[in-house]
Amino acid sequence: MELKILRLGINGEGVAKIPEGNNQDKICFVEKALPDEVVNVNITNEKKSFCTASVVDIKSKSANRIAPKCPYFGKCGGCDIQHMDKPLQEEFKTNLVKDAVCRTLKNNFQVQDVVRVNDFYYRNKMVFPITGDIGNITIGMFRANSHQVVDIDKCILAKDEINKVLQLTKDYFNCSKYSGYDFLKKKGILKYLVVRSKSEQILVTIVATKKIDLKQYYEMLERNFSKVGVSIIVSNNDNEILSGNYIYQYGIKGIDIVEFGVKYCVDNRGFLQVNDDIKQYLYEKILGFVDSDDCVIDAYSGAGLLSSIVAKKCKKVIGIEINKSASQSAKNLARDNVLNNVDFINDDVEIVLEDSIRKYAPSVLILDPPRSGCSMGVLKIINNSIMQNQKTTQNKGINKLIYVSCNLATLMRDLKELTLSFDIKYLQPFDMFPQTKHIETLVCLQRRV
Ligand SMILES: C[S@@+](CC[C@H](N)C(=O)[O-])C[C@H]1O[C@@H](n2cnc3c(N)ncnc32)[C@H](O)[C@@H]1O
Repeated sequence: MELKILRLGINGEGVAKIPEGNNQDKICFVEKALPDEVVNVNITNEKKSFCTASVVDIKSKSANRIAPKCPYFGKCGGCDIQHMDKPLQEEFKTNLVKDAVCRTLKNNFQVQDVVRVNDFYYRNKMVFPITGDIGNITIGMFRANSHQVVDIDKCILAKDEINKVLQLTKDYFNCSKYSGYDFLKKKGILKYLVVRSKSEQILVTIVATKKIDLKQYYEMLERNFSKVGVSIIVSNNDNEILSGNYIYQYGIKGIDIVEFGVKYCVDNRGFLQVNDDIKQYLYEKILGFVDSDDCVIDAYSGAGLLSSIVAKKCKKVIGIEINKSASQSAKNLARDNVLNNVDFINDDVEIVLEDSIRKYAPSVLILDPPRSGCSMGVLKIINNSIMQNQKTTQNKGINKLIYVSCNLATLMRDLKELTLSFDIKYLQPFDMFPQTKHIETLVCLQRRV
């Protein structure tokens, strides 16, 4: 069937219409097709109101189509849009956010163009699944929507040192007595290779179903890198990669970093934005929204990096984090940096936010939640705090919200609630993940009255 592609869908696929008679059209999502292209397709899945298709051949090619740089593109599930040139990737991400704002918030608010600072070799952390029998280990990436491992020699989104660890690890474990993990039968020993690289320090974690001694593996890595550390996670949980017993084994325990004047040390469990260059822009922008006399609640504060950076600029910061070990790291971070104006609460935001707003009367609330966004309870607490203020004719309380999101769908859902009391003043997509459909968005909202 020949189709003309009309636009891009939210996953970077082409969208076309198939006439169905009676002036009815069926929407067809065509994998890796670009706007204005004329393509011959095979229908791969047919539903009542839409269908999906793959391209058989391209009869008329878009000027924005480029040859993907990576030989695994289309096989490995890591990248989605390597076939688009940079201008089209940027347009796609900017429009994704613009359309979502328009559709969900019925608002023509001026969305800034996406900020993009790098194209490849940007990821400071990778998680590679390991599979295969003893002596025949495969380390790579999962195929899209599957647990089948595609063997890869390198990932061009990852920093060079990470790819070097990938190669060395393959060679090493192929000469070992350990098997990889069969993700379907749930059997085997070595499950994942986790590598983080920053400031010439490398941290490697092997996730395995039993404890193994990695001394010789560490010695091999040490011959190749000047600062390297090795740990193991013993995990029989197939749902969460990094859950399980984290056991430090050899070399450096964490990566030492200084950013925005804050010194910190992170191991392979701690959260760090994966793209250092774009993170710099994102955090600079966030800092621009807080003033020296602000009191800030940083909900979802993780290991406290953003809280500490903000505390260097403003009067007081209270971080709230549900994870005990992340919250303890945040406390240590504040202590090591002699930041006396920051406190951390180890609890669920939904449980402690109301009291914290009453107690600290913050002028700014930072929300940097996981992909699932904020709960309805949290959004209600924020809106109610504004209504309480109006009743008591106090002009104190939250004046500004700063929302950092890595999931556009949950961001829009949450903004729908928050815009009952706040106006969006700034909304900017950041390309934290070039070559993929994912996007990071920063929103600053101002209390309406
Ligand atoms: C995107 S990370 C935030 C990172 C942090 N802003 C930083 O700079 O390191 C989201 C954090 O929210 C935490 N979290 C998830 N649900 C939570 C909840 N209900 N209450 C408090 N923290 C939560 C997670 O443990 C995670 O550390």
